[in-house]
Amino acid sequence: MTTNNVLIFDTTLRDGEQSPGATMTHDEKLEIAELLDDMGVDIIEAGFPIASDGDFAAVSEIARRSKRAVICGLARANFNDIDRCWDAVKHAARPRIHTFIGTSPTHRAIPNLTMDQMAARIHDTVTHARNLCDNVQWSPMDATRTEHDYLCRVVEIAIKAGATTINIPDTVGYTYPRESADLIAMLLERVPGADTIIFATHCHNDLGMATANSLAAVEAGARQIECTINGLGERAGNTALEEVVMAMKVRQDILPYQTGIDTTRIMTLSRKVAAVSGFAVQFNKAIVGKNAFLHESGIHQDGVLKNVETFEIMRPEDIGLTANNIAMGKHSGRAALRSKMRELGFDLADNQLNDVFVRFKALADRKKEVYDDDLIALVQDEERHEDEDTLQVKRLRVVCGTDGPQEAELTLTIDGVDHSIDATGDGPVDAAFNAVKMLWPHKARLQLYQVHAVTEGTDAQATVSVRIEEDGRIATGQSADTDTVVASLKAYVNALNRLIVRREKSGSDRPEVSYRDLH
Ligand code: KIV
Ligand code: ZN
Repeated sequence: MTTNNVLIFDTTLRDGEQSPGATMTHDEKLEIAELLDDMGVDIIEAGFPIASDGDFAAVSEIARRSKRAVICGLARANFNDIDRCWDAVKHAARPRIHTFIGTSPTHRAIPNLTMDQMAARIHDTVTHARNLCDNVQWSPMDATRTEHDYLCRVVEIAIKAGATTINIPDTVGYTYPRESADLIAMLLERVPGADTIIFATHCHNDLGMATANSLAAVEAGARQIECTINGLGERAGNTALEEVVMAMKVRQDILPYQTGIDTTRIMTLSRKVAAVSGFAVQFNKAIVGKNAFLHESGIHQDGVLKNVETFEIMRPEDIGLTANNIAMGKHSGRAALRSKMRELGFDLADNQLNDVFVRFKALADRKKEVYDDDLIALVQDEERHEDEDTLQVKRLRVVCGTDGPQEAELTLTIDGVDHSIDATGDGPVDAAFNAVKMLWPHKARLQLYQVHAVTEGTDAQATVSVRIEEDGRIATGQSADTDTVVASLKAYVNALNRLIVRREKSGSDRPEVSYRDLH
C-alpha cells in the first residue's frame, strides 16, 4: 500500500442497527445516512437488503439520496441475496456489494461445506457480484479464527474473481493488536494480487480491543476501517468510529494516516445514534461520553484553566462539542433558538422549529436555567413523536403518597380516539404503565427501564429509556421531561409504537432474516 489515506466504512445502519433493540425506523436511517455522508464517511453500509422489505426500502432510498459516499449493502454467499442487494444499491452514484461467508472451522460446519466446496462457492458468488457491480467487497467471516493457509487460499480466489476490497473480520472480538497486524501483514505477503486490492479491518469489541486491533491492522497495511458511531453493535459492539478517527488525528506522530472525516460532526452523529437506537452512551465513553471532557477534581480544573494541554489531549470543539453554557432564557426568541440549534448540529425545518419553540417556552417557564443539553433532549424528544403513531399520551395525573398504592388517571389517544382509565400501582410509574396496559392490552415485557438526569438540579429534565420485548421482537423508546413520571410514560408509549411498527413489518410476506443467522 502506498497511500496513507484510510477509508472509513460505517456500518451503524447494518451491524449496529441489527443488534437487539437498536432497530431504527426508515426515516431515522435516512437521516443518519445523510449525516454520515455529510461528515465525510467514505462507505456507508446501509443495510442487509434481503433481511426484510423494510431493509430493502431503506437501502434503496439511501442509495438514491447519496451524495459523495459509496453505498454498500450486505449479502450472504448466494445469488438471491446478491441480486437483491444489487437491486437496492444500484440506485447509488457509487454502489458496492458486500458479500461474505464464514470460513473458520466452526462457521464452515454450519452450511456443511467441505473446504473445496466453500472455495467454489466463494468463486461463484464473488464472480456473480462482480458481473453486477464493479465495486465488490468480500469478507471471510471469523477470519481471525480461520486457518492461515485456508484464509490465503480463499482470499486469493476472491481477488481473482473480482473483489476490490477484502475485509478481514474479527467477528467474535477474539484477536489481539499484534495478532491483528500480523494477519494483515501475512496476507499482504502471501496472497498473489494482494497489492491490487484494499484490505479492510472489521473488529468487534468483546475483549475491549476493537479500536487497538483496527489501528494495528492499519499499521500493517489495511486501508479501510469498518466501524459504527458510538461503537454500536451486537454484544460489546463494533469498533467506534469516533475512537479510531480521533486516535489518528491526535497521534499523527505515530499514526500518520489521513481520513476524510469532518470530526466536528462527531457529537451530532453520536447524539443522533444514541437517541434513535435507544442505546445511551456511557458517561465515561472515550471521545463522546458526557464526562470525556469534564474536569471535576480541583487539581485537574486548576491545571486546565492555566493550560488546557495539562489534562486535555484534544479540544472539545474538535468533535463539535460546545461548552454547556446556559443556553437560553424564557425571553429568547425564535431566531435565537434556530441559531442555537444550528450550533448544536440540528438544522430544523420551520414546522419543527415552531414545535420545539413552544416546548422550549414551556420548559423555560418550569426550569430556572435551560442548558444546551436540555435543548438537545427537547429536540430529540420532538423528533421521536410521529403524528401517525397509534398511541399518543393525551393527559396524565398521578396521586402519590407515602402510604398505599399510587394512582394514575390516564387519557390515551388510540388510533385517534380518546380513552381514559384510572389504575393503581407500586409507585407512580408502575401505576401509569398499568393504565396503558389496561387501555391497550399487550403482552410485551419490560426488559429495561433507565432514568438519567440531563443536567444538574432538582428541576433537571429526566431522559427515560425503556426496552420491551414481545415474541422475540424488541423495541426501545425514550423521552425527556422535567417530570420523571411523564418522561417514563412517554418513553413506554414510544416503545409500544415502535413495537407496533415492528409487528407490521414482520407481517410482510418476505421472511425476516435474523442477524443471529450470521453470527
Ligand atoms: O462481524 C462480522 O463478521 C460481520 C460480517 C458480516 C462482515 O459483520
Ligand atoms: Zn460484524
